[in-house]
Amino acid sequence: TDIPALRDAFPEHVRVGGAVERPETVGVHAELLERHYDSVTAGNAMKWDATEPTEGQFTWDEADHIVEYARENGLGVRGHTLVWHNQTPAWVFRDADGAEMTPTPENKALLLARLEAHIRAVAGRYADDVYAWDVVNEVIDESQPDGMRRSKWYEITGLDYIRTAFRVAREVAPDAKLYINDYNTEIPAKRAFLHDLVAQLKAEGVPVDGVGHQMHINIAWPAVGEIERTITDFVDLDVEQQITEFDMSVYDNPTDSYDPVPAELLVEQGYRYRDVFAALRRQADHLTGITFWGLGDDRTWLTQFPIARIDLPLPFDQRLQAKPAYWGIVDPT
Ligand code: XIL
Repeated sequence: TDIPALRDAFPEHVRVGGAVERPETVGVHAELLERHYDSVTAGNAMKWDATEPTEGQFTWDEADHIVEYARENGLGVRGHTLVWHNQTPAWVFRDADGAEMTPTPENKALLLARLEAHIRAVAGRYADDVYAWDVVNEVIDESQPDGMRRSKWYEITGLDYIRTAFRVAREVAPDAKLYINDYNTEIPAKRAFLHDLVAQLKAEGVPVDGVGHQMHINIAWPAVGEIERTITDFVDLDVEQQITEFDMSVYDNPTDSYDPVPAELLVEQGYRYRDVFAALRRQADHLTGITFWGLGDDRTWLTQFPIARIDLPLPFDQRLQAKPAYWGIVDPT
């Protein structure tokens, strides 16, 4: 295989990454990783339910394996994620009596103590390996008047879970860039809330280093100009930015399903990849990384989300061969 490495399609300072599960650290997936990428993100292995399923009992096998694989192969590691409303065990939000937490001062103290203990353990363990952490994930909800997602975290602690998370992460992982990560930041109202939250946190001295745009887009949405504004709108904040979970569904709505996916659609996807990545390259001065949420179409979360269906959102096909999307990135002519 002497096709160009994906990582060479971007300037040196832009790391190119892929999300992986443990089975992708061997065989043909590992070969692809080592040839095309600079960085890996654990697709699930560092989430709370994977690392601390029971209070105080940590399970490191999967995450350790991915980190060791990355270290042995000279790949960087993006940590994902310390605080999220999903994939967080139910015990985290139970009060001292085992009931679902309600907003009281006691519960707030207990929840923040659990948050701190979790981050100390996880971010501390990988302090020498993880170059960037998604400290908090998906905290914005633009349908709320203040733009804050009504998660248990928010209901019990207000913004303090975010402040605490960043401060503890900085303390135990001083060399990692600390990110706030979210999806649909291409929606102007959503990214305005995110922008203003980051501005506020920085003004308070909360150590936020970066904004992560997940960028789960599709074949028709959003417009390329909106993708470009997604980056330029944050430039004034003086934070790093990365694309953290890129993929491009072949569907532009949540209920369609093709079997098989028409070949013309993959060609169309290739042209759209070309246009989107041309925009990202134009903004490369403002980016430090672009991570794809997966390697090849053989394993993509989009075959389960939002419904079970075939989807082919990545640069490599189900046999890990380069497809039009790949050529759209590396050969934009
Ligand atoms: C997804 C994983 O890829 C799936 O395997 C899992 O079942 C659900 O989570 N936004 C995120 C990621 O921040 O953590 C999600 O990952 C995809 C959406």
